[in-house]
Amino acid sequence: MATNLTSKICDISEPVTFSSQSFATDRWVTNLKPYVIATVGLPARGKSYTAGRLNRWLNWKGLKSRVFNLGWYRRELYPSESMTHEWFDPDKEDQVSKREKSLSCCIDDLKRFFEGGGIVGIIDGTNSTATRRERLQGILAGFIDANRILWVEKICDDPESVLENILTRKVHHEDYFHASPSEVVEDFSKRIQHYEKNYTRLGGPADSDKKFIQIFNVGRKVILNQINSQLDLKLAYFLMNLHSKHITIYLTRHGESVAQLNQIIGTDSDLTERGKGYSDRLRDFIDRETAKEDKMSVFCSTLKRSYKTASSFLNSGKYVVKQWKQLDEINGGHFEGSTYSIIAEKWPKIYKLRQGNKYVYGWPGGESYQQMIARLENILLELERGSHPILIIAHQAICRGIYAYLMYLLPEECTEIEIKSHCVYKFSFEKKNEPTVTRFDLGLG
Ligand code: SIN
Repeated sequence: MATNLTSKICDISEPVTFSSQSFATDRWVTNLKPYVIATVGLPARGKSYTAGRLNRWLNWKGLKSRVFNLGWYRRELYPSESMTHEWFDPDKEDQVSKREKSLSCCIDDLKRFFEGGGIVGIIDGTNSTATRRERLQGILAGFIDANRILWVEKICDDPESVLENILTRKVHHEDYFHASPSEVVEDFSKRIQHYEKNYTRLGGPADSDKKFIQIFNVGRKVILNQINSQLDLKLAYFLMNLHSKHITIYLTRHGESVAQLNQIIGTDSDLTERGKGYSDRLRDFIDRETAKEDKMSVFCSTLKRSYKTASSFLNSGKYVVKQWKQLDEINGGHFEGSTYSIIAEKWPKIYKLRQGNKYVYGWPGGESYQQMIARLENILLELERGSHPILIIAHQAICRGIYAYLMYLLPEECTEIEIKSHCVYKFSFEKKNEPTVTRFDLGLG
């Protein structure tokens, strides 16, 4: 059954289309020259976490990025060596030259990455001495403008946070395959002491011309130096929003709606009885899943089927429900209210173009996936900022976009991801910094 079809639609022969180049909501993502981000700081300060998050976000924004982790080069070059703390002793000359070799290999790969069209290379290492930073800057000067190197320093002087970081991120680390947690803590603490001997923070007179962002104790204080380009500012904003911990995110489509039952695209229809039942089951499931949490955010859209699914979380001391316009379903334009089979029959050209490349082609008067993704940016920043679990109750296309971001896929890979109705997708980070998704079917079909 089709409703709301306007006669205007008959005059439109093609969907709205934007090429990747012409459709950039932000000018800063186009025509960029190579740019390097280099982390600075003692071990266990969250540098790799930050590098990984920056990488995900930059790729999502259309800037081809990659992390170059110095520890990875070290392990590749010296696979049979024991990586206990002695390896990091700055007074052992052999070890120092091996670490320099790791840096050279990393820089060779970085160059190749830029030659192959890469835009942002993230060097993830300690870079903890002024000498090392000058040397790195000198090498990079051969192929990068000095004003395209950003140093990001993570400083943490809270021993409990450092210990927590060691326990959560180093205990399963490749450097410590056969060690117990207490052995890891002991050895890693000694590794930190080796670095402390020569550590110099950014901010000395030699750094006055450097672009840097210094983040103290998970953002309690942030210092920005020479941050002036659009990209610098965007990165600073992102880093200031970034929380230091992985949080669990739950993602689900709304309960069944009347339009969905009739296979109608879009509209703002209400929940069916089954859809209302899903709202209750979802609440029971989340209650059980997050029993140990005292606070949780629930995000929904401004469309009935989404906020009514979220209604079972209202009036609770634990759940904070927030509606976001940005979470509204992809806009079906003049085809809202129609069905795929009617469109295929009456407007085959439009149907074929859209099915052939949903990412770029939007329904006439509506949105493409590419446009929808652009409006998700604030939501993604909320996920980066969050310090408690978040449940998102949204719509199929929106869930696809968020799923792709959380699983480190590129936005254009999102269009065919299967998001089943009446299922909850749980995103967490197990052991090493790897994202994991688990699907829970709440049994409503
Ligand atoms: C590492 O080898 O794990 C880090 C190397 C460094 O940047 O100090």
